[in-house]
Amino acid sequence: MGDLRSTVIEGYEAFAPISRELIEEARRCFPGGDTRMSAHYAPYPLFVERAAGCRLYDADGHALVDFMNNFTSLIHGHAFAPVVEAVIEQVQRGTAYAAPTRSQVALAQLIRARVPSVEQLRFTSSGSEATLMTLRCARAATGRQKIMKMEGAYHGSYELAEVSLVPRPDRCGPLAAPHPVPIDASIPRSALDDAVICPFNEPALARALIDRHAHELAAVIVEPVLASMGMIPATPEFIAALREATARHGTVLVFDEVVTLRVSHGGAQAWYGVTPDLTAMGKIIGGGLPIGAFGGREDLMRVFHPDEREPVMHASTFSGNPISMAAGFAAMDALTPDATQRLNALGERLRAGIGAAFARHGIRGQATGLGSLANIHFTDAALASARDSLAGVLRSGHVNQLLHLEMLKRGVASAARLMYCTSTAMGDEDVDFALAALDDALKSLLPGIEKEKPELLV
Ligand SMILES: Cc1ncc(COP(=O)(O)O)c(C=O)c1O
Repeated sequence: MGDLRSTVIEGYEAFAPISRELIEEARRCFPGGDTRMSAHYAPYPLFVERAAGCRLYDADGHALVDFMNNFTSLIHGHAFAPVVEAVIEQVQRGTAYAAPTRSQVALAQLIRARVPSVEQLRFTSSGSEATLMTLRCARAATGRQKIMKMEGAYHGSYELAEVSLVPRPDRCGPLAAPHPVPIDASIPRSALDDAVICPFNEPALARALIDRHAHELAAVIVEPVLASMGMIPATPEFIAALREATARHGTVLVFDEVVTLRVSHGGAQAWYGVTPDLTAMGKIIGGGLPIGAFGGREDLMRVFHPDEREPVMHASTFSGNPISMAAGFAAMDALTPDATQRLNALGERLRAGIGAAFARHGIRGQATGLGSLANIHFTDAALASARDSLAGVLRSGHVNQLLHLEMLKRGVASAARLMYCTSTAMGDEDVDFALAALDDALKSLLPGIEKEKPELLV
C-alpha cells in the first residue's frame, strides 16, 4: 500500500480511463489540457458527455450528482425543460441581433422587481464584465480612482478583480492594512496601486480604511459571501459598516451578487437588509447561458446614457443576446420564493450533514455557506475570513484534493475546492446520497489521515 495520495490517484485513474485518454489529446490543444483554469484539477478532470437534471454523465459512463452546477450558475440543474424550450424557440428566430429586443426588457423588468436597488441596469456577457462596469461607473461618477476590494474576494477574470484573491501568508501584510497581492506575474503594478485591500469581516478596520482612503476611493466592492475563498458569509455588522462608511464619504458601494443572488428572492442584499448603490449579477440570471448584468441607482447609471456629453463606453458584441435573455427569463421566472426556500433547505441539510459526517469520523471539518451555497473545510476553527480559510487549506494540504477525487469516484461532483451548491432539480434523497458518499469517503481516507495528517484528527 502506497501513500495516501498515490493510492487515491491510482483509484481515480482506474475509475476514469477514458477521460485520461481524452486529456492526452486535449493537452495537445490547451495548456494543461483545459481551456478554463477553474475547471481543471489534478490528475485530470472528468470529461462530461451530457447532463440532465441534477446529473452529469461522464465519458467513462458514470452518472454523478452535480453539486457544482457550473460554479453555481445552473439553479435548476441541467437541461431544465422551460429553459430548453425557450432556447429552441429563440434559436429558430435568430441567435443575435444588434438591436433591442422585448426579451431584454422582460428580463430587466423581472430583475428590477426582485432587486429594488436596481433602478436601471445593463446586460453583459459575463459576471466579469458586470463587476468591471460597476467599477467604471463608480470612477466616472465620483472622479476618484481607487477601488477597495476584500481580501480573498473574486470578481472575475481581469487584473484588479484578482488582486489579493489568495492572501498568501508571506505576502499579505498586516490585517489592519493588507498588502495588495498579485495573483500571478501578469498583474501590472498599476492594478496593485489602484487597489485598497480590506480584511473581510472586520467592521472597525474596514471603517478605518474607508475613512483613510475616502478622498481617492471611487467604490467599495464586496461579495456578501466570500465565494471562491470558501463560502464565508459576511456578518451583518460588517455589511452595515461598509454601508455606513461609504455613504458618509460618497463612495459607491457595490455588491457583487454574481454568486449570492440565489440566497434569497431579492439576493443577498434582501437577506442582509442593506441597499447597495450598484449590483453586479451573472450566473443564475442566464439560465445556464453566458450572461452578466450590472445596475443600481438611476443617477449613477446615468453615466452610460447616450445623451451624456461623455457617456461611459459600454458595448460588447453579445451583451443582451436574445438566447441568454430567453433562457434567463425562463429560469428566473421558475425561481419562485417557494423554490428558493426549498433550495435553501437542501443547502441547510447538506451543511448540517457534512458537519455530522466529520464529527462521526473524528476528523476536524465543517461546512460553511449560506442558503444553497456550501464549502467543506478540513478545520474546526472558526472561519470568518480568507486568511482563516487559507490557513485551513494549507494545514490540510493534499487531503482536500483527495476528498474531491474520492467523492467523484462515489458519484458526487463538486468544485475541486470542495464548493457545493444545491439546485431545484435535487431532492432530499440527492443530498442524502452525497452525505452517504462523504461518510464513505472519509472512512476510506481515515487510515491515511491518521498516518500522514494526524493534526486533522479531533
Ligand atoms: C463573485 C463572482 N463575481 C464575478 C464572477 C465572474 O463571473 P464570470 O465567470 O461570469 O465572468 C464570478 C465567477 O465565478 C464570481 O464568483
